[in-house]
Amino acid sequence: MDHFLYQDGELFAEDVSLRDIAAQVGTPFYCYSAATLTRHFNLFDEALAGMEHLVCYAMKANSNQAVLKLLGDMGAGMDVVSGGEYRRARAAGVPGERIVFSGVGKTEEEMRLAISGGIRQFNIESEPEMVLLSSVAVSLGAEVPVTIRVNPDVDAKTHEKISTGKKGDKFGIPISRAVEVYAQAAALPGLKVIGIDVHIGSQMVDLEPFRLAFRKVAELTEVLRGEGHEIARLDLGGGLGIPYERSNADPPLPRDFGQVVREEVGHLGCEIEIEPGRLIAGNAGVLVSKVIYVKSGEDRNFLILDAAMNDLIRPAMYGAYHDIIPLSEPKPGAEPATYDVVGPVCESGDTFTKQRVMAEMGPGELVAFRSAGAYGAVMSSEYNSRPLIPEVLVRGDQFAVIRPRPTFDEMINRDTIPPWL
Ligand code: LLP
Repeated sequence: MDHFLYQDGELFAEDVSLRDIAAQVGTPFYCYSAATLTRHFNLFDEALAGMEHLVCYAMKANSNQAVLKLLGDMGAGMDVVSGGEYRRARAAGVPGERIVFSGVGKTEEEMRLAISGGIRQFNIESEPEMVLLSSVAVSLGAEVPVTIRVNPDVDAKTHEKISTGKKGDKFGIPISRAVEVYAQAAALPGLKVIGIDVHIGSQMVDLEPFRLAFRKVAELTEVLRGEGHEIARLDLGGGLGIPYERSNADPPLPRDFGQVVREEVGHLGCEIEIEPGRLIAGNAGVLVSKVIYVKSGEDRNFLILDAAMNDLIRPAMYGAYHDIIPLSEPKPGAEPATYDVVGPVCESGDTFTKQRVMAEMGPGELVAFRSAGAYGAVMSSEYNSRPLIPEVLVRGDQFAVIRPRPTFDEMINRDTIPPWL
């Protein structure tokens, strides 16, 4: 459920008309709903009620300062994967003890930054990382809490580009070698092994892979405890999917996910961490764009928008589906039209969807891409010298621009011409 609904025939974000925002900030823009973000965070928090837990928002999904502040103020932890994300989380007021550092390629600088600034734990992904982290911790006179990310070799049944828990993926250490690697970690100075981490993929709409992975983690917990390790915390990753195509979707809910956690690892008495990103932010955001032209092709009609693949790359990159709806609700009984919806960027990859049956649109009319709050703005670029588009946050009847559109001069002046040229 989200808070983007038609009111008297116009699409609103909570109590604000998206058309009014468009009139003030121009198109295209991203718009997020604070109520939806809040609701989704609470759903996860409630799903784990009764178990000691922390919901660490995977901020890669949407790392705008206002979004982080909103979630951080509710008590969310943050899952970060770079020094930049760590800095963003801290700048939004999230304390180090609620920040978890994930990622396969943490650098020495990033380790220093997080150890000096405060960190809840590092999720270690390889032996060389473990050795480097140990030496950095020792050099700073610190003992850092760590989990080791295991690769359970479970098929997440999702798009191959976002599947991360199969043998052959670059993530984690093979679960079959966990006993050996945990022994090595325990022997290294500066590291305090406290738990196990797993994350097998994203946009997962079947709970079974989660169950299989968590079961393997539970078995490993017992084995490692038998070896004398204190396994007190399980980081179970993120990955729960969202209904991108509203008309034919019934994905599992956070409470169903919580039930799987309870059933598979609840008996171990561990503190539970989860790292959801998409489910918190995805349906909390839309991308609003204007139709520039309706162009008749040889055998099809193109809806040419002012948003493009540089603003929302998911369709081009993963063949992802996003619902596209008009800001003015179609009249009952209105005949739909069929379009290839495209942007102005000069490659055919700049296609949001082909042969979509949707409301008939004319030039100047506005549309919203739904489910664009996660992996939308954060993955955008200035390809074709199209400045990054603004982000807007709505709460109730108020809205604010939370990232302004840069001017063309700001974009151009980031480049410098060498004096010798
Ligand atoms: N934890 C780790 C270690 C991750 O790698 C990810 C996502 C998450 C948590 C959050 O997963 P979520 O709950 O959002 O599914 N750009 C892609 C998605 C990439 C996901 C990468 N890792 C997309 O647009 O679909």
